[in-house]
Amino acid sequence: MNKESFRLISPGGTETELPVHSGTVGPDVVDIGSLYKSQGVFTYDPGFVATGSCVSDITYIDGEQGILMYRGYPVEQLAANSSFIEVSYLLLYGELPTADELQKFDHTIRTHTMLNEGMLNFFKGFRYDAHPMAMLSAVVGSMSAYYHDTLDSSDPVHRDIFSHRILAKLPTIAAAAFKLNSGQPFIYPRNDLTYSENLLQMLFAVPAEPYEIDPIAAEALDLLFILHADHEQNCSTSTVRMAGSSGANPYSAIAAGISALWGPAHGGANEAVLKMLEEIGDTSQIDKYVAKAKDKNDPFRLMGFGHRVYKNFDPRATIIRDMAHKVLEKLGRADTPMFDLALELEQFALQDDYFIEKKLYPNVDFYSGIIYRALGIPTSMFTVMFAIGRSVGWTAHWREMIADPNGRISRPRQLYTGSPARDYVAIEKR
Ligand code: CMC
Repeated sequence: MNKESFRLISPGGTETELPVHSGTVGPDVVDIGSLYKSQGVFTYDPGFVATGSCVSDITYIDGEQGILMYRGYPVEQLAANSSFIEVSYLLLYGELPTADELQKFDHTIRTHTMLNEGMLNFFKGFRYDAHPMAMLSAVVGSMSAYYHDTLDSSDPVHRDIFSHRILAKLPTIAAAAFKLNSGQPFIYPRNDLTYSENLLQMLFAVPAEPYEIDPIAAEALDLLFILHADHEQNCSTSTVRMAGSSGANPYSAIAAGISALWGPAHGGANEAVLKMLEEIGDTSQIDKYVAKAKDKNDPFRLMGFGHRVYKNFDPRATIIRDMAHKVLEKLGRADTPMFDLALELEQFALQDDYFIEKKLYPNVDFYSGIIYRALGIPTSMFTVMFAIGRSVGWTAHWREMIADPNGRISRPRQLYTGSPARDYVAIEKR
Protein backbone atom coordinates (compact mmCIF):
# COMPACT_ATOMS: atom_id res chain seq x y z
CA MET A 1 0.00 0.00 0.00
CA ASN A 2 3.02 2.32 -0.04
CA LYS A 3 2.87 5.32 -2.39
CA GLU A 4 5.14 8.27 -2.96
CA SER A 5 6.19 9.95 0.26
CA PHE A 6 5.02 13.16 1.87
CA ARG A 7 7.77 15.72 2.45
CA LEU A 8 7.66 17.71 5.66
CA ILE A 9 10.03 20.67 6.19
CA SER A 10 10.54 21.84 9.76
CA PRO A 11 10.94 25.57 10.63
CA GLY A 12 14.72 24.82 10.91
CA GLY A 13 14.72 23.50 7.34
CA THR A 14 15.17 19.80 8.15
CA GLU A 15 13.33 17.61 5.67
CA THR A 16 11.53 14.43 6.64
CA GLU A 17 10.08 11.95 4.17
CA LEU A 18 6.89 10.47 5.54
CA PRO A 19 5.48 7.39 3.78
CA VAL A 20 1.99 7.70 2.28
CA HIS A 21 -0.33 4.70 2.25
CA SER A 22 -3.38 4.18 0.03
CA GLY A 23 -6.38 2.08 0.93
CA THR A 24 -8.77 0.51 -1.58
CA VAL A 25 -10.97 3.62 -1.53
CA GLY A 26 -10.86 6.84 0.46
CA PRO A 27 -8.17 9.42 1.16
CA ASP A 28 -4.50 8.46 1.44
CA VAL A 29 -2.92 8.53 4.87
CA VAL A 30 0.43 10.05 5.80
CA ASP A 31 2.33 7.71 8.10
CA ILE A 32 3.66 9.91 10.91
CA GLY A 33 4.94 7.02 13.05
CA SER A 34 8.57 8.12 12.63
CA LEU A 35 7.97 11.86 13.14
CA TYR A 36 8.87 12.05 16.82
CA LYS A 37 12.09 10.14 16.26
CA SER A 38 13.15 12.26 13.29
CA GLN A 39 11.82 15.71 14.26
CA GLY A 40 11.13 15.50 18.01
CA VAL A 41 7.54 16.69 17.58
CA PHE A 42 4.16 15.10 18.16
CA THR A 43 1.09 15.74 16.03
CA TYR A 44 -1.98 17.34 17.62
CA ASP A 45 -5.49 16.38 16.55
CA PRO A 46 -8.04 16.55 19.37
CA GLY A 47 -11.05 14.36 18.65
CA PHE A 48 -9.02 12.54 15.95
CA VAL A 49 -10.62 14.61 13.17
CA ALA A 50 -7.83 13.85 10.67
CA THR A 51 -6.20 10.84 12.26
CA GLY A 52 -6.45 7.23 11.16
CA SER A 53 -5.86 5.03 14.20
CA CYS A 54 -5.58 1.66 12.46
CA VAL A 55 -5.74 -0.27 9.21
CA SER A 56 -9.14 -1.92 8.80
CA ASP A 57 -10.93 -4.08 6.21
CA ILE A 58 -14.35 -3.94 7.82
CA THR A 59 -16.33 -0.78 7.08
CA TYR A 60 -15.94 2.20 4.75
CA ILE A 61 -17.64 5.56 5.10
CA ASP A 62 -17.53 8.49 2.68
CA GLY A 63 -19.06 11.35 4.63
CA GLU A 64 -19.31 13.73 1.67
CA GLN A 65 -21.10 11.23 -0.60
CA GLY A 66 -23.13 9.62 2.19
CA ILE A 67 -21.65 6.16 1.52
CA LEU A 68 -21.55 3.37 4.10
CA MET A 69 -20.28 -0.09 3.11
CA TYR A 70 -19.75 -3.22 5.21
CA ARG A 71 -16.96 -5.33 3.70
CA GLY A 72 -17.59 -3.48 0.42
CA TYR A 73 -21.36 -4.06 0.30
CA PRO A 74 -23.44 -0.82 0.30
CA VAL A 75 -25.62 -0.67 3.40
CA GLU A 76 -28.67 0.06 1.21
CA GLN A 77 -28.28 -3.35 -0.51
CA LEU A 78 -27.79 -5.13 2.78
CA ALA A 79 -30.78 -3.34 4.31
CA ALA A 80 -32.97 -4.33 1.34
CA ASN A 81 -31.85 -7.95 0.95
CA SER A 82 -30.09 -9.28 4.00
CA SER A 83 -30.76 -10.05 7.66
CA PHE A 84 -28.94 -8.94 10.78
CA ILE A 85 -27.57 -12.45 11.31
CA GLU A 86 -26.22 -12.61 7.76
CA VAL A 87 -24.70 -9.11 8.14
CA SER A 88 -23.14 -10.22 11.43
CA TYR A 89 -21.48 -13.17 9.67
CA LEU A 90 -20.24 -10.79 6.97
CA LEU A 91 -18.75 -8.39 9.51
CA LEU A 92 -17.12 -11.12 11.58
CA TYR A 93 -15.79 -13.34 8.78
CA GLY A 94 -15.36 -10.92 5.85
CA GLU A 95 -17.59 -12.65 3.25
CA LEU A 96 -21.29 -13.29 2.79
CA PRO A 97 -22.03 -16.83 4.00
CA THR A 98 -23.16 -19.71 1.80
CA ALA A 99 -26.59 -21.12 2.68
CA ASP A 100 -24.91 -23.85 4.73
CA GLU A 101 -22.60 -21.43 6.55
CA LEU A 102 -25.52 -19.14 7.33
CA GLN A 103 -27.63 -22.00 8.66
CA LYS A 104 -24.80 -23.15 10.96
CA PHE A 105 -24.04 -19.62 12.16
CA ASP A 106 -27.70 -18.89 12.81
CA HIS A 107 -27.99 -22.16 14.76
CA THR A 108 -24.91 -21.30 16.83
CA ILE A 109 -26.27 -17.86 17.76
CA ARG A 110 -29.73 -19.28 18.56
CA THR A 111 -28.24 -21.89 20.87
CA HIS A 112 -26.03 -19.52 22.88
CA THR A 113 -28.79 -17.19 24.03
CA MET A 114 -29.14 -18.39 27.63
CA LEU A 115 -27.27 -16.76 30.49
CA ASN A 116 -25.57 -18.60 33.28
CA GLU A 117 -28.26 -18.57 36.00
CA GLY A 118 -25.79 -16.95 38.39
CA MET A 119 -25.61 -13.96 36.11
CA LEU A 120 -29.31 -13.28 36.66
CA ASN A 121 -28.51 -12.66 40.34
CA PHE A 122 -26.80 -9.43 39.36
CA PHE A 123 -30.18 -8.02 38.44
CA LYS A 124 -31.43 -8.65 41.97
CA GLY A 125 -28.67 -6.33 43.21
CA PHE A 126 -29.52 -3.39 40.98
CA ARG A 127 -32.06 -0.78 42.06
CA TYR A 128 -35.43 -1.13 40.32
CA ASP A 129 -34.76 2.13 38.43
CA ALA A 130 -31.13 1.50 37.42
CA HIS A 131 -30.42 2.72 33.91
CA PRO A 132 -30.38 -0.30 31.55
CA MET A 133 -27.13 0.91 29.90
CA ALA A 134 -25.42 0.82 33.30
CA MET A 135 -26.74 -2.72 33.85
CA LEU A 136 -25.76 -3.82 30.35
CA SER A 137 -22.20 -2.58 30.77
CA ALA A 138 -21.86 -4.14 34.23
CA VAL A 139 -23.30 -7.54 33.27
CA VAL A 140 -21.35 -7.78 29.99
CA GLY A 141 -18.21 -6.93 32.00
CA SER A 142 -19.12 -9.75 34.39
CA MET A 143 -19.00 -12.23 31.49
CA SER A 144 -15.21 -12.19 31.89
CA ALA A 145 -15.74 -13.83 35.28
CA TYR A 146 -17.95 -16.55 33.78
CA TYR A 147 -15.99 -17.47 30.67
CA HIS A 148 -12.34 -17.28 31.69
CA ASP A 149 -11.82 -20.89 30.59
CA THR A 150 -12.31 -19.92 26.94
CA LEU A 151 -10.41 -16.66 26.87
CA ASP A 152 -7.11 -17.27 25.19
CA SER A 153 -7.17 -14.35 22.75
CA SER A 154 -4.46 -15.94 20.63
CA ASP A 155 -6.72 -18.94 19.93
CA PRO A 156 -9.06 -18.38 16.92
CA VAL A 157 -11.57 -20.88 18.33
CA HIS A 158 -11.74 -18.92 21.59
CA ARG A 159 -12.19 -15.70 19.61
CA ASP A 160 -15.13 -17.29 17.79
CA ILE A 161 -16.73 -18.49 21.02
CA PHE A 162 -16.35 -14.98 22.48
CA SER A 163 -17.92 -13.41 19.35
CA HIS A 164 -20.87 -15.81 19.38
CA ARG A 165 -21.51 -15.28 23.08
CA ILE A 166 -21.56 -11.50 22.75
CA LEU A 167 -23.94 -11.58 19.80
CA ALA A 168 -26.22 -14.24 21.27
CA LYS A 169 -26.40 -13.08 24.90
CA LEU A 170 -26.65 -9.31 24.57
CA PRO A 171 -30.41 -9.39 23.81
CA THR A 172 -30.98 -11.67 26.83
CA ILE A 173 -29.06 -9.31 29.14
CA ALA A 174 -30.84 -6.28 27.64
CA ALA A 175 -34.25 -7.88 28.15
CA ALA A 176 -33.39 -8.81 31.76
CA ALA A 177 -32.51 -5.16 32.45
CA PHE A 178 -35.81 -4.07 30.89
CA LYS A 179 -37.78 -6.58 32.97
CA LEU A 180 -36.10 -5.36 36.16
CA ASN A 181 -37.12 -1.79 35.32
CA SER A 182 -40.69 -2.84 34.55
CA GLY A 183 -41.09 -5.07 37.61
CA GLN A 184 -41.97 -8.12 35.49
CA PRO A 185 -40.45 -11.61 35.67
CA PHE A 186 -37.49 -12.41 33.46
CA ILE A 187 -38.48 -14.24 30.27
CA TYR A 188 -36.12 -16.93 28.98
CA PRO A 189 -34.95 -16.92 25.36
CA ARG A 190 -36.66 -19.12 22.78
CA ASN A 191 -34.31 -20.65 20.27
CA ASP A 192 -37.05 -21.38 17.72
CA LEU A 193 -37.39 -17.63 17.07
CA THR A 194 -35.28 -15.33 14.92
CA TYR A 195 -32.89 -12.90 16.59
CA SER A 196 -35.31 -9.95 16.59
CA GLU A 197 -38.41 -12.06 17.33
CA ASN A 198 -36.67 -13.57 20.31
CA LEU A 199 -35.72 -10.15 21.64
CA LEU A 200 -39.30 -8.93 21.28
CA GLN A 201 -40.68 -11.91 23.21
CA MET A 202 -38.07 -11.53 25.96
CA LEU A 203 -38.99 -7.83 26.24
CA PHE A 204 -42.77 -8.02 26.03
CA ALA A 205 -44.00 -11.54 26.86
CA VAL A 206 -45.37 -12.21 30.35
CA PRO A 207 -46.02 -15.64 31.87
CA ALA A 208 -49.73 -14.88 32.33
CA GLU A 209 -50.74 -14.87 28.66
CA PRO A 210 -49.50 -15.81 25.19
CA TYR A 211 -47.51 -13.16 23.35
CA GLU A 212 -47.96 -12.62 19.63
CA ILE A 213 -44.93 -11.27 17.80
CA ASP A 214 -45.72 -8.47 15.37
CA PRO A 215 -43.82 -9.21 12.11
CA ILE A 216 -43.48 -5.46 11.36
CA ALA A 217 -41.86 -4.92 14.75
CA ALA A 218 -39.43 -7.79 14.11
CA GLU A 219 -38.66 -6.46 10.61
CA ALA A 220 -38.04 -2.93 11.94
CA LEU A 221 -35.70 -4.19 14.68
CA ASP A 222 -33.76 -6.34 12.24
CA LEU A 223 -33.31 -3.33 9.95
CA LEU A 224 -32.21 -1.08 12.80
CA PHE A 225 -29.66 -3.69 13.89
CA ILE A 226 -28.28 -3.91 10.33
CA LEU A 227 -27.93 -0.12 10.18
CA HIS A 228 -26.26 0.08 13.59
CA ALA A 229 -24.03 -2.97 13.10
CA ASP A 230 -20.82 -1.08 12.38
CA HIS A 231 -19.54 2.42 11.70
CA GLU A 232 -15.73 2.14 11.43
CA GLN A 233 -13.67 3.90 14.10
CA ASN A 234 -16.47 5.67 15.99
CA CYS A 235 -16.08 6.53 19.68
CA SER A 236 -17.30 3.23 21.17
CA THR A 237 -15.50 1.05 18.61
CA SER A 238 -12.27 2.98 19.15
CA THR A 239 -12.81 2.46 22.89
CA VAL A 240 -13.15 -1.30 22.39
CA ARG A 241 -10.00 -1.36 20.26
CA MET A 242 -8.09 0.81 22.72
CA ALA A 243 -9.11 -1.18 25.81
CA GLY A 244 -8.46 -4.43 23.93
CA SER A 245 -5.05 -3.26 22.70
CA SER A 246 -3.59 -3.76 26.17
CA GLY A 247 -4.55 -7.42 25.95
CA ALA A 248 -7.46 -6.77 28.34
CA ASN A 249 -10.22 -9.31 28.64
CA PRO A 250 -12.44 -8.88 25.54
CA TYR A 251 -15.70 -8.92 27.51
CA SER A 252 -14.34 -5.99 29.53
CA ALA A 253 -13.37 -4.23 26.30
CA ILE A 254 -16.97 -4.61 25.04
CA ALA A 255 -18.24 -3.31 28.41
CA ALA A 256 -16.00 -0.24 27.92
CA GLY A 257 -17.51 0.23 24.44
CA ILE A 258 -21.02 0.07 25.91
CA SER A 259 -20.08 2.82 28.40
CA ALA A 260 -18.69 5.00 25.60
CA LEU A 261 -21.81 4.46 23.50
CA TRP A 262 -24.03 5.74 26.31
CA GLY A 263 -22.87 9.36 25.89
CA PRO A 264 -25.44 11.74 24.34
CA ALA A 265 -23.01 12.81 21.59
CA HIS A 266 -22.89 9.14 20.47
CA GLY A 267 -25.46 6.36 20.96
CA GLY A 268 -27.20 8.21 23.78
CA ALA A 269 -28.50 10.63 21.15
CA ASN A 270 -31.56 8.47 20.34
CA GLU A 271 -32.70 8.77 23.96
CA ALA A 272 -31.81 12.46 23.93
CA VAL A 273 -33.93 13.01 20.78
CA LEU A 274 -37.08 11.80 22.48
CA LYS A 275 -36.31 13.78 25.64
CA MET A 276 -35.77 16.84 23.45
CA LEU A 277 -39.07 16.29 21.60
CA GLU A 278 -40.83 15.96 24.97
CA GLU A 279 -39.17 19.19 26.13
CA ILE A 280 -40.14 21.07 22.95
CA GLY A 281 -43.68 19.85 23.53
CA ASP A 282 -45.48 21.02 20.39
CA THR A 283 -44.87 22.54 16.97
CA SER A 284 -45.48 26.11 18.21
CA GLN A 285 -42.21 25.89 20.17
CA ILE A 286 -39.99 24.87 17.23
CA ASP A 287 -38.84 28.44 16.45
CA LYS A 288 -37.75 28.96 20.02
CA TYR A 289 -35.76 25.73 20.23
CA VAL A 290 -34.10 26.13 16.84
CA ALA A 291 -33.02 29.63 17.97
CA LYS A 292 -31.59 28.09 21.16
CA ALA A 293 -29.68 25.52 19.08
CA LYS A 294 -28.14 28.35 17.03
CA ASP A 295 -27.23 30.49 20.03
CA LYS A 296 -23.50 30.16 20.80
CA ASN A 297 -24.16 31.03 24.46
CA ASP A 298 -26.74 28.31 24.88
CA PRO A 299 -25.47 24.73 25.28
CA PHE A 300 -28.70 23.34 23.75
CA ARG A 301 -28.22 21.38 20.52
CA LEU A 302 -30.80 19.80 18.30
CA MET A 303 -30.27 16.15 19.17
CA GLY A 304 -30.35 13.80 16.20
CA PHE A 305 -28.82 16.44 13.92
CA GLY A 306 -25.24 16.61 12.67
CA HIS A 307 -22.53 14.02 12.37
CA ARG A 308 -18.76 14.06 12.62
CA VAL A 309 -18.36 12.24 9.32
CA TYR A 310 -21.57 12.65 7.29
CA LYS A 311 -21.70 16.16 5.88
CA ASN A 312 -24.45 15.75 3.27
CA PHE A 313 -26.74 13.07 4.55
CA ASP A 314 -26.59 10.02 6.78
CA PRO A 315 -27.43 7.04 4.50
CA ARG A 316 -28.76 5.16 7.53
CA ALA A 317 -31.19 8.03 8.21
CA THR A 318 -32.57 7.82 4.66
CA ILE A 319 -33.29 4.09 5.03
CA ILE A 320 -34.69 4.31 8.54
CA ARG A 321 -36.86 7.31 7.74
CA ASP A 322 -38.89 5.13 5.34
CA MET A 323 -39.14 2.38 7.95
CA ALA A 324 -40.30 4.94 10.56
CA HIS A 325 -43.20 5.89 8.27
CA LYS A 326 -44.02 2.22 7.55
CA VAL A 327 -44.02 1.27 11.24
CA LEU A 328 -46.10 4.26 12.30
CA GLU A 329 -48.66 3.67 9.55
CA LYS A 330 -48.93 -0.10 10.13
CA LEU A 331 -49.23 0.37 13.88
CA GLY A 332 -51.73 3.19 13.35
CA ARG A 333 -49.59 5.73 15.17
CA ALA A 334 -48.69 8.03 12.27
CA ASP A 335 -50.78 10.85 13.64
CA THR A 336 -49.34 11.11 17.12
CA PRO A 337 -48.36 14.68 18.14
CA MET A 338 -44.80 13.52 18.83
CA PHE A 339 -44.35 12.27 15.26
CA ASP A 340 -45.92 15.45 13.83
CA LEU A 341 -43.48 17.46 15.89
CA ALA A 342 -40.51 15.36 14.74
CA LEU A 343 -41.46 15.74 11.06
CA GLU A 344 -41.99 19.47 11.34
CA LEU A 345 -38.73 19.97 13.21
CA GLU A 346 -36.93 17.92 10.55
CA GLN A 347 -38.38 20.08 7.74
CA PHE A 348 -37.68 23.30 9.60
CA ALA A 349 -34.04 22.46 10.26
CA LEU A 350 -33.50 21.20 6.69
CA GLN A 351 -34.53 24.63 5.36
CA ASP A 352 -32.75 26.75 7.95
CA ASP A 353 -29.61 28.63 6.81
CA TYR A 354 -27.61 27.78 9.94
CA PHE A 355 -28.22 24.05 9.55
CA ILE A 356 -27.63 24.17 5.79
CA GLU A 357 -24.39 26.14 6.14
CA LYS A 358 -23.02 23.86 8.87
CA LYS A 359 -24.21 20.76 7.01
CA LEU A 360 -26.31 19.52 9.88
CA TYR A 361 -28.75 16.88 8.70
CA PRO A 362 -30.92 14.44 10.64
CA ASN A 363 -28.84 11.40 11.59
CA VAL A 364 -29.95 7.80 12.17
CA ASP A 365 -30.76 8.53 15.80
CA PHE A 366 -33.35 11.12 14.90
CA TYR A 367 -35.58 8.38 13.46
CA SER A 368 -34.55 5.30 15.44
CA GLY A 369 -36.03 6.67 18.67
CA ILE A 370 -39.34 7.35 16.91
CA ILE A 371 -39.51 3.70 15.79
CA TYR A 372 -38.57 2.37 19.22
CA ARG A 373 -41.23 4.57 20.80
CA ALA A 374 -43.84 3.22 18.36
CA LEU A 375 -42.83 -0.37 19.23
CA GLY A 376 -43.44 0.34 22.93
CA ILE A 377 -39.78 0.34 23.90
CA PRO A 378 -39.16 2.89 26.64
CA THR A 379 -36.74 5.78 26.09
CA SER A 380 -34.16 4.47 28.55
CA MET A 381 -33.81 1.31 26.41
CA PHE A 382 -33.05 3.11 23.13
CA THR A 383 -29.29 3.12 23.51
CA VAL A 384 -29.42 -0.50 24.66
CA MET A 385 -31.04 -1.36 21.33
CA PHE A 386 -28.23 0.48 19.55
CA ALA A 387 -25.70 -1.48 21.63
CA ILE A 388 -27.24 -4.82 20.58
CA GLY A 389 -26.76 -3.93 16.91
CA ARG A 390 -23.31 -2.42 17.38
CA SER A 391 -22.04 -5.35 19.47
CA VAL A 392 -21.15 -7.29 16.32
CA GLY A 393 -19.15 -4.33 14.97
CA TRP A 394 -17.24 -4.03 18.24
CA THR A 395 -16.53 -7.74 18.16
CA ALA A 396 -15.38 -7.67 14.51
CA HIS A 397 -13.01 -4.78 15.29
CA TRP A 398 -11.66 -6.48 18.40
CA ARG A 399 -10.97 -9.61 16.31
CA GLU A 400 -9.23 -7.58 13.63
CA MET A 401 -7.18 -5.67 16.20
CA ILE A 402 -6.08 -8.76 18.14
CA ALA A 403 -5.09 -10.64 14.96
CA ASP A 404 -3.06 -7.72 13.54
CA PRO A 405 0.63 -8.75 13.53
CA ASN A 406 1.60 -5.05 13.67
CA GLY A 407 -0.79 -4.35 16.54
CA ARG A 408 0.59 -2.31 19.45
CA ILE A 409 -0.94 -0.97 22.63
CA SER A 410 -2.83 2.29 21.92
CA ARG A 411 -0.88 4.96 23.70
CA PRO A 412 -1.38 8.54 22.42
CA ARG A 413 0.84 11.44 23.49
CA GLN A 414 -0.18 14.96 24.51
CA LEU A 415 0.60 18.66 24.47
CA TYR A 416 1.51 19.33 28.10
CA THR A 417 0.35 22.76 29.39
CA GLY A 418 0.82 22.19 33.13
CA SER A 419 3.44 23.74 35.37
CA PRO A 420 7.11 23.35 34.42
CA ALA A 421 9.31 21.55 36.98
CA ARG A 422 9.17 23.09 40.46
CA ASP A 423 10.33 22.09 43.93
CA TYR A 424 8.12 20.50 46.57
CA VAL A 425 7.02 23.02 49.23
CA ALA A 426 6.64 21.80 52.81
CA ILE A 427 3.02 22.05 54.02
CA GLU A 428 3.73 24.70 56.66
CA LYS A 429 5.24 26.97 54.00
CA ARG A 430 2.28 26.90 51.55
N1 CMC B 1 -27.38 21.53 16.88
C1 CMC B 1 -26.89 22.78 16.73
N2 CMC B 1 -25.65 23.06 16.32
C2 CMC B 1 -24.84 22.02 16.04
C3 CMC B 1 -25.28 20.68 16.15
C4 CMC B 1 -26.61 20.45 16.59
N3 CMC B 1 -27.07 19.20 16.72
N4 CMC B 1 -24.27 19.85 15.80
C5 CMC B 1 -23.24 20.63 15.48
N5 CMC B 1 -23.57 21.94 15.61
C6 CMC B 1 -22.72 23.10 15.29
C7 CMC B 1 -21.68 23.32 16.36
O1 CMC B 1 -22.12 24.26 17.34
C8 CMC B 1 -20.51 23.85 15.57
O2 CMC B 1 -20.74 25.22 15.31
P1 CMC B 1 -19.48 26.24 15.16
O3 CMC B 1 -18.73 25.77 13.96
O4 CMC B 1 -20.12 27.55 14.97
O5 CMC B 1 -18.70 26.13 16.44
C9 CMC B 1 -20.60 23.11 14.24
O6 CMC B 1 -21.99 22.76 14.10
C10 CMC B 1 -19.75 21.84 14.19
O7 CMC B 1 -20.07 21.06 15.33
P2 CMC B 1 -19.02 20.15 16.11
O8 CMC B 1 -19.54 19.87 17.47
O9 CMC B 1 -17.66 20.77 15.99
O10 CMC B 1 -19.05 18.86 15.23
P3 CMC B 1 -18.55 17.44 15.67
O11 CMC B 1 -18.19 16.73 14.42
O12 CMC B 1 -17.50 17.53 16.72
O13 CMC B 1 -19.83 16.78 16.36
C11 CMC B 1 -21.84 15.65 16.74
C12 CMC B 1 -20.69 15.91 15.76
C13 CMC B 1 -22.67 14.47 16.22
C14 CMC B 1 -21.30 15.26 18.11
C15 CMC B 1 -22.73 16.92 16.83
O14 CMC B 1 -23.26 17.25 15.56
C16 CMC B 1 -23.84 16.81 17.85
O15 CMC B 1 -23.62 17.05 19.04
N6 CMC B 1 -25.08 16.38 17.40
C17 CMC B 1 -26.16 16.13 18.32
C18 CMC B 1 -25.96 14.78 18.96
C19 CMC B 1 -26.29 13.63 18.00
O16 CMC B 1 -27.31 13.63 17.32
N7 CMC B 1 -25.41 12.60 18.00
C20 CMC B 1 -25.63 11.36 17.24
C21 CMC B 1 -24.65 11.14 16.15
S1 CMC B 1 -25.19 9.81 15.05
C22 CMC B 1 -25.07 8.39 16.01
C23 CMC B 1 -23.67 7.94 16.20
O17 CMC B 1 -22.97 7.70 15.20
O18 CMC B 1 -23.27 7.83 17.37
